[in-house]
Amino acid sequence: SVPRIQLNDGSSIPQLGFGVFKIDPDETERLVTDALEVGYRHFDTARIYGNEQGVGRAVASSGVSREELYITTKVWNDDHGMQSAFDAFDASLERLGLDYVDLYLIHWPVPAQDRYVETWRALEAIRESGRARSIGVSNFLVPHLQRLLDETAVVPAVDQIELHPAHQQPATAAFAADHGIAVEAWGPLGQGKYPLLELPEIVGPAAAHGKAPAQVVLRWHLQRGYIVFPKTTNRARMAQNFDVFDFELSDDEMQAISDLEREGRGGSHPDSVN
Ligand code: A2P
Repeated sequence: SVPRIQLNDGSSIPQLGFGVFKIDPDETERLVTDALEVGYRHFDTARIYGNEQGVGRAVASSGVSREELYITTKVWNDDHGMQSAFDAFDASLERLGLDYVDLYLIHWPVPAQDRYVETWRALEAIRESGRARSIGVSNFLVPHLQRLLDETAVVPAVDQIELHPAHQQPATAAFAADHGIAVEAWGPLGQGKYPLLELPEIVGPAAAHGKAPAQVVLRWHLQRGYIVFPKTTNRARMAQNFDVFDFELSDDEMQAISDLEREGRGGSHPDSVN
C-alpha cells in the first residue's frame, strides 16, 4: 500500500495520489472511478479546475469509506479575504458532497492583492472547525511562507509547488524542509513540457530496473520525500504510475537525476501557467 507522510499537525497523507488538474469536468467522474479501481485513494482537485463535482460523485459511488480517502481542494485567487474564503470553502464542500476535506490550500499567494495573510486566517478558522483536517498553501515562495510564519499562528502543513528533476525549486524546498512543511510536487513528470522521460539519467535506471521512465521519475520524488499526484487520462498509465513501490533507485541513480537541474539538462524552464 501507499506510504504516508507525517504532517506537522499530527495527521498523515498518502504520498502518492491522482491529480485532476486540466482533466475535463465531463471526464472526471469516470477517470476518478478508474483511479479508485486501480487503488488510488488520494485526490487533488481545486475550485478553478471546475471538476470538484466529478471527484465527489466518483468517491460517493465507489463505496470506499471516507476514512480511507484523502481529498484536497483549493481556494482560488478571486476568493481571497476572510468571508470570501469561508464562502468558497462551503461551496467547494457542497460540490464535493463531503462534510470535510483532508486538506485545504490557498492556490496562489497573489501578492499583488496582498490578502493571503487574511485568507490564511480564514483557513486557520476552517481547520479549527474540523471541516478541513489540514491546511496548507500552494505556489508559495520563501517570502510568502516567511510572512505567514511571522504574522500567523499555524504553520502550513504543505506547500504544493511545481517541482520535478529539471525544476527543483531548491530555495523553497529547503525552506519548507527547515520549517516542517511537507512539499507536494505538482507537474511531477514535467507536464510533457520537458524532455525528461527521454534523458539517459532516467532511461538508464528504467532499463536497469525493468520499469518505465515515468516510474523512475516518480520514484525520485518519493525517495526525496515529496508527495506526488501524477495525472493521466490513460488507464494503463494510471496503473503504471501507481506501481512504483517494488523497486528502489540507488544513491548514484538518485544523484544523477538530482544533478539534471544543476546541469541544465532538462531543458529551459517555460513560463508556468498554473
Ligand atoms: P497522458 O494523459 O496522455 O498519459 P504531470 O503529472 O507532470 O502534469 O504530467 C502529465 C503528463 O504526463 C500528461 O501529458 C500525461 O499524458 C503524461 N503521463 C502521465 N503518466 C505518464 C506515464 N506513465 N508515461 C508517460 N507519460 C505520462
